[in-house]
Amino acid sequence: MSTHSSTESTENTAPTSTPVTTAQAAQDLASRGENRSQRPSSDAFREFIASGWDETVPDASPRPATAVTPARRDALVRRLPGTRIVLPAGPLKVRSNDTDFPYRPDTSFVYYSGLGTDEEPDSVLVVEPDPQRDGGSKAVWFFRPRAGFDTPEFYADSRYGEMWVGRRLTLTEAEQALGIECRHIDELRDALAKNLGDQLTLSVMPGVDAAVEEMVQQVRTENHVQADDSALAEAASEQRLVKDEYEISQMREAVDATIRGFEDVVRRLPEAIGHRRGERVIEGVFARTARADGNGVGYGTIAAAGDHACTLHWVRNDGAVREGDLVLIDAGVEVDSLYTADVTRTLPVGGRFSPAQRRVYEAVLEAADAAFAVARPGVLFRDIHATAMQVIARHLEEWGLLPGTAEESLAPEGQHHRRWMVHGTSHHLGLDVHDCAQARREMYLDAELRPGMVFTIEPGLYFKENDLLVPEELRGIGVRIEDDVLVTADGVENLSAALPRRVEEIEAWMAALRGPSTPTTLAP
Ligand code: GLY
Ligand code: MN
Ligand code: MN
Repeated sequence: MSTHSSTESTENTAPTSTPVTTAQAAQDLASRGENRSQRPSSDAFREFIASGWDETVPDASPRPATAVTPARRDALVRRLPGTRIVLPAGPLKVRSNDTDFPYRPDTSFVYYSGLGTDEEPDSVLVVEPDPQRDGGSKAVWFFRPRAGFDTPEFYADSRYGEMWVGRRLTLTEAEQALGIECRHIDELRDALAKNLGDQLTLSVMPGVDAAVEEMVQQVRTENHVQADDSALAEAASEQRLVKDEYEISQMREAVDATIRGFEDVVRRLPEAIGHRRGERVIEGVFARTARADGNGVGYGTIAAAGDHACTLHWVRNDGAVREGDLVLIDAGVEVDSLYTADVTRTLPVGGRFSPAQRRVYEAVLEAADAAFAVARPGVLFRDIHATAMQVIARHLEEWGLLPGTAEESLAPEGQHHRRWMVHGTSHHLGLDVHDCAQARREMYLDAELRPGMVFTIEPGLYFKENDLLVPEELRGIGVRIEDDVLVTADGVENLSAALPRRVEEIEAWMAALRGPSTPTTLAP
């Protein structure tokens, strides 16, 4: 990385062995990063760098989500009447010293603003009832607009400057892009305080930006208003339980890109087999598709070969990938609008399942198929899991693994079968991989399925290699099959159906992608 320094500084060329002078000792630690800067500060330089640039302002066309965000905001203010709603994008997060993690704005901010990718740290969307329109909303986006070529920000600010982070939006461009009023972030505090009182309170999305939360708290105290911020988090989560048409189109794109990522992984599986950390090779191959076709991965890719598949969130991915083993790959592409897929396939590394692997795989597949068969509008979300568990428990009973019958295990006071599948079968999916997480239980687990819901079906069985209760031939086998499902008017659509999931289809698909020289070693 090149040397970054964000502010003007004097030169310091002293070698590290020079005795500490009083002036150096007095320099505070926060500004020591400037000590590597040799940026010119002459008037001649300042004048020169401010001149000779094309001043044409590009046209900003409306963002793809701009057509759908007004209805989302209207629905939110109807749910929280008399509330000015503050939705921070969130700050950058430090990775180390003065470098940050890639920026990802907060999910609620994205949903109600229509912004995506890495826009726009520290900005804030404010939504409130529109007195001119009964049941309607109005919104203002407060952000730090682009500064001109004649400002030090242009060349000397590594956080916001155009020479460092690229061209950012002007207020006018932002208004064209989002279809709402836009103002400088410095105006936020006064705007939050305006007209608060009996008819209007102030609420902020909790847990996103501590500085904005503190500002909101101060403004509330000064204006003697109160609000329950958890009600806002709950409302935003529950509003996303049913996806609009735009969201469904984005989910389709995310799933399609994810399928391409899985195809790439299979094509390049021989490289993984030949590498001492083949799981990392798989992670890297998928990440390439995710980054090239979308914004990136929607969560840490799990590439888990052999016994690692039994560690449910195996993201270290530092193991070898051996012929004869299964490899569980749980990965999802997040597209530029920040919707993510969440798909798992468990593949035979050598291209063919062994009889023991196949036995476990087909039990899990049967559980998934049973869950698909019951899923339709009106069915309770919790019953998808219950259906999958009936199949899992029955197989475990057949294999003699349960201490009693499947029926006894399925009773609330039993649950022995869960030793081999401790996770749930389904979760909502969307902008967050575990979407709608602040929804109430009666709106999530205990709710009826409704058209437009998108969730996963992902049963599994995990027989750890140190599990003395399972026969040796099953130890070290972990299987999960995860698909992304859209509830339709009369059933469900498997959005990830194009990715093979039956044994014969997987073997044929792998053979076709890997060509005629594909190794076909069977596990012993
Ligand atoms: N990838 C996390 C999950 O499947 O829920
Ligand atoms: Mn999942
Ligand atoms: Mn997953």
